Amino acid sequence: MKADLEALRTRALEEITVLDDLQALEQARVTYLGRKGKVTEILRGLGQASPEERPKLGQLANEVKQAIAERLDERKQVLEAREDALQAEAAALDITLPGRRPQRGHLHPITQVTEEIVGIFQALGFQVATGPDVETEYYNFDSLNTPPDHPARDSHDTFFVQPGVVLRTHTSPVQMRVMEKVQPPVAVVVPGRTYRVDNDASHSPMFNQLEGLLVDEGITFGDLKGTLLHFVQEFFGADTKVRFRPHFFPFTEPSAEMDISCSVCQANGCRVCKHSGWVELLGCGMVHPRVFGYAGYDTEKYTGFAFGMGLDRLAVQRHAINGIGHLFENDLRFLEQF
Ligand code: PHE
Repeated sequence: MKADLEALRTRALEEITVLDDLQALEQARVTYLGRKGKVTEILRGLGQASPEERPKLGQLANEVKQAIAERLDERKQVLEAREDALQAEAAALDITLPGRRPQRGHLHPITQVTEEIVGIFQALGFQVATGPDVETEYYNFDSLNTPPDHPARDSHDTFFVQPGVVLRTHTSPVQMRVMEKVQPPVAVVVPGRTYRVDNDASHSPMFNQLEGLLVDEGITFGDLKGTLLHFVQEFFGADTKVRFRPHFFPFTEPSAEMDISCSVCQANGCRVCKHSGWVELLGCGMVHPRVFGYAGYDTEKYTGFAFGMGLDRLAVQRHAINGIGHLFENDLRFLEQF
């Protein structure tokens, strides 16, 4: 029995020393010291021992119990300390870490370009006018000298909302809406969304234009050239050159398309200008007398110029974006770059 107690002590102490969590430790306490535990089990044989040996065995049993209890407490302290340390580490607040800044939004690249261009014209005295996206055929076509059978309608693949009502194919209808309301002098720019049945790498069914209209006494093509040259040199840089190619629009006469020297390659030739050194920028011309007729303006007294440009292509050029569609997908990974 003495040997049993001593063997039990050795085994228990060894076992407890390597226990790794508090639950296992509690389990060990029950196994060794509990009412139905191993020490109690051995002590059941005490009745068979001789009367002289009994007190000695009883004392030994107490010593064994005490040793095991002490070892359990020791181990418990170690494990508890370790758990506390882990918890403290998990909850630790490192006040030297840099803070997380809230994300800031910014204006869409098209809005940025629009505001910049509008600002250049405002500095010249132009005012901003707007009109509806859903427009009547009268304003979009007829009043701009483009009757229903006019071949120029073919080049505007038009979205029809209902007979006589379209999604405007350009911002030019706002010319007429402005002229109906005010008498010359008129100087307005019109930024806005426009729509055509068109969808590829360089065309989107919805796109943005900026229209310009200036009407007064004695306005000439020279005023048109000077105004547009000033604009491109402000926007693209002071050494930007322009050239005008004859063109046709029903609502201007004469009409032209204006190219600018390529701002990407300084006109040396690149992918953007298709190695020509020139990039097409806008359509323009002197307001057609028939258009003034629809507006009720005195064609003997007034002349004027108008121009219209695609803003998306400007944004694409300025930021060297490959494909106009990116501008309208609203993918933050794209937009955050501007
Ligand atoms: N509205 C024409 C277009 O969309 C551009 C333009 C505007 C041309 C004003 C001349 C004058 O193509």
